Amino acid sequence: MFKAVILIGGPMKGTRFRPLSLDLPKPLFPVAGFPMIYHHIEACTKVPNLKEIILIGFYQHNEPLTKFIEECKQEFKIKIRYLLEFTALGTAGGLYHFRDQILMGHPESFFVMNADVCGDFPLLEMLNFHRGNPSTCYGTILGTEATSQQSLKFGCMVESKETHEVLHYVEKPETFVSNIINCGIYLFNPEIFQPMETAFKKNCCDNFKLDSHILSREMIRLEQDVFAPLAGTNKLFIFHSNKFWSQIKSAGAAVYANRHYLAIYQSSHPERLAISKDGYPKIIGDVFIHKTAEVDASCVIGPNVTIGKNVKIKAGVRIRESIILEGAVLQDHCCILYSIVGWNSVVGAWTRVEGTPNDPNPNKPFAKLEIPSLFTNDGRLNPSITVIGSKVQVPPEVIILNSIVLPDKDLNSSYKNQIIL
Ligand code: GDD
Ligand code: GTP
Repeated sequence: MFKAVILIGGPMKGTRFRPLSLDLPKPLFPVAGFPMIYHHIEACTKVPNLKEIILIGFYQHNEPLTKFIEECKQEFKIKIRYLLEFTALGTAGGLYHFRDQILMGHPESFFVMNADVCGDFPLLEMLNFHRGNPSTCYGTILGTEATSQQSLKFGCMVESKETHEVLHYVEKPETFVSNIINCGIYLFNPEIFQPMETAFKKNCCDNFKLDSHILSREMIRLEQDVFAPLAGTNKLFIFHSNKFWSQIKSAGAAVYANRHYLAIYQSSHPERLAISKDGYPKIIGDVFIHKTAEVDASCVIGPNVTIGKNVKIKAGVRIRESIILEGAVLQDHCCILYSIVGWNSVVGAWTRVEGTPNDPNPNKPFAKLEIPSLFTNDGRLNPSITVIGSKVQVPPEVIILNSIVLPDKDLNSSYKNQIIL
């Protein structure tokens, strides 16, 4: 029997995802029509004999999360629970704290997935690889390749070419270590709790001496406190994948993930993709339109667009590379390019909302999405996806370019490269 744990973090996380994470916990932000972690859950349900999915985080119990869990339980007929950390315990602290819950029913092994990654998760292939590892093995890490420069922003691993054992692990190194990076997807045997216990005890001793606050004693970092010491002991292995994988740290990354999940639907769920037909808008490339959305037949939509629940799109609208969130209204002939339009916002007629993508360099093999800093050195906003927060009114006949608009704003003119507070 198997289980899966999804690390969903908490309210202090997802800061680069603001203002979109102000309205909804970031792991529930919809990508390609479904909450970010819905894609994780769907991937887990494809693993035979996976009996339970546990979400661990430090969001207080809230309605959107409870509703999401209930809906997934019904749809996938699988046990799903949310376990609340009393504070941020780090990427392994929550796992260790709830170890009895995870090990209940004696799973052979369990997956652990970071919530803020997306991809074509190769869980079954990982499981087959894991079973072939030596009996000393505690865990398998999903690894992929990154450019030397980009690798510094991830966990980096040096491996044995023959056995794929992790020989050396450094989390976000200052100088180059390896092109193989940690994707934040793992498969662990129950023995993984031994090094966590060692880290926990060490933390307790260190912090006891320092007389520090009791909460920090339970903080365990999976990467630095568990993986780094396990490297080179024949207990950690890498499963390589070159399938699509990316982090979702920013709004730009959500638009990028949206595009890839839509492309995956071509083979996994072709029924989710809209098609052009008589009396229906013109569809270009991959487009998801929620069944409750109303889209005028004169619109041109795509490629890579997701239109959420109850969205209303009037005549002559053009949308490309964008996510339109639930309840938004797009008035006649407006044009939305490389943008996210927030929940219940209204974009006026003939208005243009446009952002700039930060896609990986297609000429560099293994390049990942760059997450540029918000501001340039001279204090200006770096061009990026335009984000319109929830319940914003954008007037007719204006241009909103490379800007971030906070929720509830009532705009009255055009804006370029600005954060509108
Ligand atoms: N429950 C819980 N509690 N979850 C947490 C906590 C915590 O205290 N801290 C982080 N998480 C969750 C986040 O929500 C996220 O899904 C995941 O753990 C990783 O979070 P970060 O701490 O932001 O790490 P990172 O994304 O910069 O780096 C990690 O992921 C990379 C791949 O995306 C590392 O594992 C890297 O090595 C890895 O390359
Ligand atoms: P590339 O394909 O990237 O070279 O760009 P493009 O020349 O197609 O133009 P752009 O990316 O700016 O626009 C994408 C689509 O939106 C095109 O099909 C344009 O015809 C359409 N478009 C651009 N601006 C407007 C506008 O103001 N109103 C409407 N309705 N459509 C527009």
